[in-house]
Amino acid sequence: MMSIEDRTKEYRSKIAELSGQIWPSSDAKSDIELEVVYGEAADKILSITRAAFAEYEGKLNPPSGAANSTLEEISSQIAEGGAVLATLDNNPVGSALFRLRPDHLYIGRLSVLPGYRGRGVASAVLRLCEQIAMNVGLKELRLGTRVSMPRNIALYERHGYVITGYVKHPGGDGTDTIVHMTKRLN
Ligand SMILES: CC(C)(COP(=O)(O)OP(=O)(O)OC[C@H]1O[C@@H](n2cnc3c(N)ncnc32)[C@H](O)[C@@H]1OP(=O)(O)O)[C@@H](O)C(=O)NCCC(=O)NCCS
Repeated sequence: MMSIEDRTKEYRSKIAELSGQIWPSSDAKSDIELEVVYGEAADKILSITRAAFAEYEGKLNPPSGAANSTLEEISSQIAEGGAVLATLDNNPVGSALFRLRPDHLYIGRLSVLPGYRGRGVASAVLRLCEQIAMNVGLKELRLGTRVSMPRNIALYERHGYVITGYVKHPGGDGTDTIVHMTKRLN
């Protein structure tokens, strides 16, 4: 059987060609550059994630762990797949973590810095995640959000994700619900 190291090397070589893509932003002011990154970029991913999720502080019940993510958490999630880093005007502005599961790719912590939203950065990151799934032979993408985040649900639906389940959030005061969403690739 192939060792984890060999498997990791094999899938990384299958997605290496996807790095370095340039996408026009939706306002066409500048280009979005996308990279597939690993542990060495964990600090950049951490600071984007913390800054993006800071807006929820004091507003979500239970709070999102993302605003208080640590380097260890981000690094250990990257080890299960990798991360996508988006750059705009030479600034790292967006990111997501992806985990490779036997039958799907899981997208976590999709994040764009507040000053760079609405320009298609998250959409470009989502599309790159689809390409990653395809390159490693996975036919399904999954992610989770919350009922309290309707704009996020709308974003994912525009990208072809469908709601597959609602699960009452186990933490907090019991008023928020986790929304599981899935996209099947053909
Ligand atoms: C959700 C998020 C990643 C979207 O990034 P983005 O680059 O602005 O997204 P795009 O430009 O590709 O698409 C814009 C769409 O994102 C969604 N969106 C959610 N929150 C948004 C926000 N605060 N500002 C702008 N768009 C937002 C909307 O559907 C928006 O479309 P609309 O303007 O027609 O409502 C970003 O708002 C963010 O980092 N939010 C905080 C962290 C978070 O909630 N992450 C997702 C967890 S499931």
